[in-house]
Amino acid sequence: MKERTIFTLVIVTLVILAIGHFTATNLDVMPDAASSRARLVDQLARILIGLGAVIFLVVDGALVYAVIRFRKRVGDESDAVPYHGNNTLELVWTIIPAFIVVFIGFYSFQVLTEIEQPVSDEMVVEVIARQFLWEFRYPDFDLTTQELRLPVGKPIRFEITSADVIHSFWVPEFRAKRDATPGLISELLITPTELGTYPIRCAELCGAGHAAMNAQVIVETESDFMAWIELQGGLADQSTAEGEGQGESALEEVDLGEVSEDLGINGRDLFTSLGCGACHTLDDASAVGVLGPSLNDFSESAATRILNLEPIAYTKESIIAPEAFIVEGYPRGVMPNNFGERISNEELEALITYLLNQ
Ligand code: CUA
Repeated sequence: MKERTIFTLVIVTLVILAIGHFTATNLDVMPDAASSRARLVDQLARILIGLGAVIFLVVDGALVYAVIRFRKRVGDESDAVPYHGNNTLELVWTIIPAFIVVFIGFYSFQVLTEIEQPVSDEMVVEVIARQFLWEFRYPDFDLTTQELRLPVGKPIRFEITSADVIHSFWVPEFRAKRDATPGLISELLITPTELGTYPIRCAELCGAGHAAMNAQVIVETESDFMAWIELQGGLADQSTAEGEGQGESALEEVDLGEVSEDLGINGRDLFTSLGCGACHTLDDASAVGVLGPSLNDFSESAATRILNLEPIAYTKESIIAPEAFIVEGYPRGVMPNNFGERISNEELEALITYLLNQ
């Protein structure tokens, strides 16, 4: 090779590497980093982005160069020179990508091993996905909620499962995502490192309400967290939990699954906690779903939907056997048909009463 060619090659290589390095260090595509995993995952992502930029420039640069340099000139009718391959070139473009792939494989494995490393003193939080809402259980405190709160700096072991179809629990700011599979408990280890409120998304198409299957995680100080647990009626502190305080907070908060008759059931809370608002609009519950019929002025529509069917019977059927009658203009097979098993008779009654008061 001529000296000038070598010089040009060296310069081009250096420029490409510099652009790759610049892209890796400056392209900020990740959301805030709020967990112990984030640093390692982001570093891996940066390296992949940098490598991707270099490969893109080499491949597409060669393509653009060839298109321009070897294009057919006006009046040139001659054939191209016969060419039977170049062993050196083929070795180079086999060995370099092989090294890159092996390097990425080992490096990713190392990152994975490190972020999945069990730590001691974890707090278990069970995550139960349903069409179309998230439920969280804190076994240490015997508490089930629709809200996820975590103490900052505390190692958390999520035990994730699903009550119906496959969902995926995803907190982008934690750099953590794991499928929620019915019949299977998947573990996910993270330690929240930053105070704040972060979105929880479902990352697996799970039905018509998939896009609305959102929640949030609030990372707060240990003392705020314990205060919240106590407010929710969780067994935060056995010695004080026996006092009057717990009785009062239990009255304020009616949790799914532990409703007792004398507490009274709030229809609006039930509507919200069951996730009805993901698909139905109802002003009274600040719900804006549009997949199913609006439930504003439901008492009027319930009386006229099916001839000779009492509003109460119609409402009951619509909740526990939604396929029996589909309001015109809405799709079949969207509303989960297992509410009959998921809610008690008292809850069903409360929900019917609430809806018919709209
Ligand atoms: Cu649950 Cu998508």
